[in-house]
Amino acid sequence: MKQLTLLLSFVCGWTLSSAQDIQVQIDTKTNGPTISKHIYGHFAEHLGRCIYGGFYVGEDETKIPHTDGVRNDIIEALKELQIPNLRWPGGCFADTYHWQDGIGPKDQRATIVNQWWGGVTEDNSFGTHEFLNMCELLETEPYLSGNVGSGTVKEFADWMQYTNNGGVSPMSELRKENGRETPWNVKYWGVGNEAWGCGGHMTPEYYANVYRQFATYMTGSNIQRIASGASSNDYNWTETLMKNIPAHLVDGLALHHYSVIDWNDKGSASQFTEEQYFITLQRAWEMEELVTKHVAIMDKYDPEKKIDLIVDEWGGWYDVEEGTNPGFLYQQNTMRDAMIAGMTLNIFNNHADRVKMANLAQSVNVLQAVILTKEEKMILTPTYHVMKMYTVHHDAKLLPLKIQNNATYKNGANELPAISASASVDQAGITHISLVNIDARQSQTVSIPLSGVKKADVSGSVLASAKIQDHNSFDKPSKIQPVDFKEFKVKGGQLEVTLPPASVVVLEVK
Ligand code: AHR
Repeated sequence: MKQLTLLLSFVCGWTLSSAQDIQVQIDTKTNGPTISKHIYGHFAEHLGRCIYGGFYVGEDETKIPHTDGVRNDIIEALKELQIPNLRWPGGCFADTYHWQDGIGPKDQRATIVNQWWGGVTEDNSFGTHEFLNMCELLETEPYLSGNVGSGTVKEFADWMQYTNNGGVSPMSELRKENGRETPWNVKYWGVGNEAWGCGGHMTPEYYANVYRQFATYMTGSNIQRIASGASSNDYNWTETLMKNIPAHLVDGLALHHYSVIDWNDKGSASQFTEEQYFITLQRAWEMEELVTKHVAIMDKYDPEKKIDLIVDEWGGWYDVEEGTNPGFLYQQNTMRDAMIAGMTLNIFNNHADRVKMANLAQSVNVLQAVILTKEEKMILTPTYHVMKMYTVHHDAKLLPLKIQNNATYKNGANELPAISASASVDQAGITHISLVNIDARQSQTVSIPLSGVKKADVSGSVLASAKIQDHNSFDKPSKIQPVDFKEFKVKGGQLEVTLPPASVVVLEVK
């Protein structure tokens, strides 16, 4: 209700501003969808140092404080971030993972070779109990990715029984024998991962049939069955699945998209040119078109929007840091990544009617991580800070917006919209507006038509740094962090905001 009293008005046209002004016009009259907090989900794969040496240091660790082997500093940082869900155990690893290898006494657990990630030996010391108990510590919902590529329907169905059956069954008895009396009631279940690639190199027609078979035996109340989705612009994959999977068997369809310059020449994560920066952001901006087009296909078959679009892998992907295992995908995280995060989350917010969940790849020490660790040290990356600033949008009502007269950020003949934005109103009636200026050199001034709001009602925070390559390091862990934002004024019924180059700003309007 408070948003009505705020009288944030939707203004059509160019009231009170010159032709050059960038205007963010916020529509408070349309009843927007809720921005599911699950859009702010995370992903932890058995890959490099994400689990082992990242989240999990083992119960016997003596130097690094932990709870049942999970680092306390990571628990604390991710709780601060209010992570709504955590996807596990992969990724590609999921389709080689046999969950029964990871239960029971640790010294009796089978080992396997992690064929996807560095060929290292996986000792399965972090398994179902360790992961689901960790989710309880993190106060987050688990999202399990089941093995379809090299697993069986029975193995998948047994895993669901093991985690979710509160009654008497062979699997619930086994769970109890392993020390867990009550079920975890896992809601989110992925049916394979990248079935078109590491999940079995299937055609969409073949996967649709396999999916139907697996989904038939996925039983239990309150579960969400998520089909392995398209890679970036593979619209045929989405079309074929939507056409061939009966709606009553599916709750979500996945999509993966990485911001990568060139799969054969990804470039350094921190030593990059402005041209490389531009191309990475061009890839990130593609998310808008991808979501729009995949949603249009879904709308054809599911006009009531019962099936969710789940972008369960997204983020920047660069060359690994020098001297690290190429199979471990360890990369630094700079202001470029903050731009990817800010604009991608704006895109998801603005498509909240269909995008109900998303998972940044990945949470710790892998790809666009929010946390990096080095023995007992831990740093929070610029991406972490963006995600933290955006927590205000969790489960808030989307306020649809239009950006008029957007500035362009140019690289030779190519150009990108410089400003991205999204807005929401929370349960207390407070409006939040997140703005990203990807222009590496120029600040941009944005006008937001408002009426009835005084300067004292507005506050904000900003994430920015002198150079787009800037990042937090183990020596300077706090080089980049959000600070209070003061570069705004209220003038002639408009909020006028000046965004520094390559910055993310979140405003609060009371
Ligand atoms: O996130 C790293 C890998 O990228 C995942 O394992 C796979 O699903 C994707 O190709």
